[in-house]
Amino acid sequence: MEKNGFPVAFIDSEPIQKLFRFPETKLHRQPFIKYKGLEESLYIYIEREREREREREQIRGDQCPGHKDRERERDRERQRERAEMESSEGKCKILIFGGSGYLGKYMVKASIFLGHPTYVYSRPPTAKTSPSKIDLLHEFQAMGVSIIHGELEEHEKLVRLIKQVDVVISVLAYPQVFEQLKIIDAIKVADNVKRFLPSDFGCEEDRVNPLPPFQQFLEKKRKIRRATEEAGIPYTFVSANCFASYFVNYLLNPHEIRDNINVYGSGKANGILIIVFS
Ligand SMILES: NC(=O)c1ccc[n+]([C@@H]2O[C@H](COP(=O)([O-])OP(=O)(O)OC[C@H]3O[C@@H](n4cnc5c(N)ncnc54)[C@H](OP(=O)(O)O)[C@@H]3O)[C@@H](O)[C@H]2O)c1
Repeated sequence: MEKNGFPVAFIDSEPIQKLFRFPETKLHRQPFIKYKGLEESLYIYIEREREREREREQIRGDQCPGHKDRERERDRERQRERAEMESSEGKCKILIFGGSGYLGKYMVKASIFLGHPTYVYSRPPTAKTSPSKIDLLHEFQAMGVSIIHGELEEHEKLVRLIKQVDVVISVLAYPQVFEQLKIIDAIKVADNVKRFLPSDFGCEEDRVNPLPPFQQFLEKKRKIRRATEEAGIPYTFVSANCFASYFVNYLLNPHEIRDNINVYGSGKANGILIIVFS
């Protein structure tokens, strides 16, 4: 099914879970619209988008003679950067904040899977810590992850730890976005980090201007981007847009039947959920 040339997605399907590779995310099974060809439609769409990108690339190259040279130079730069990041054992040491979280656990596992010495900085366990988090941390340890318990306020400890690693990834929960200033401060003092990825992983906040509630949400993440730049730390900001498996449940609450719903804006816009892979 298409709307204005986009596949419109509806989410009751196993294939979506597989595409997102979040098998344990529970999708509620009340369908909005059943559409059996969804997966196929998405793949066709992805292929079409890739084809369009190749065409755009070709046009850019034809119109601007220096474009291909600049692209090649950028490729060389990326290769140099990657080589530089790899330590003597051929891998870089990665420290992850928020590694026990919804996204973080995949980062930790991917890092180990790719052979990087991996460190997770996690709040000290308390009587209220969930058994599933404790199990997860044990699982990490069994995989070879070094777990360091601590608070973000422990500046000296953070500096000492950061001095031992090459890359810092923060996947802290959204309410802790501002607390990343403490990580940025520690990275500045340690002065050895080759790349920092702050907890972004959503919209490209420097390019979108949504309605007020979401605008405030993005503003906090923008401030962390600016603080990272001002600190002169090499960074990568990751824009992943929205994960349907998360937002369908979180925003649309398909499993709840309500008498009232909040409608932002004029209420006249047609709400459609679009899933685009690249
Ligand atoms: N694009 C999307 O659709 C999408 C979806 C989900 C998330 N995101 C983004 O991805 C990032 C990570 O989100 P997430 O959902 O993975 O985070 P999360 O699971 O809610 O939390 C991540 C971790 O933050 C740590 N944390 C530190 N201090 C905390 C505190 N005081 N309270 C609670 N947690 C604390 C916890 O690790 P320890 O207990 O081990 O310290 C927790 O496991 C956020 O920036 C979020 O906006 C984007």
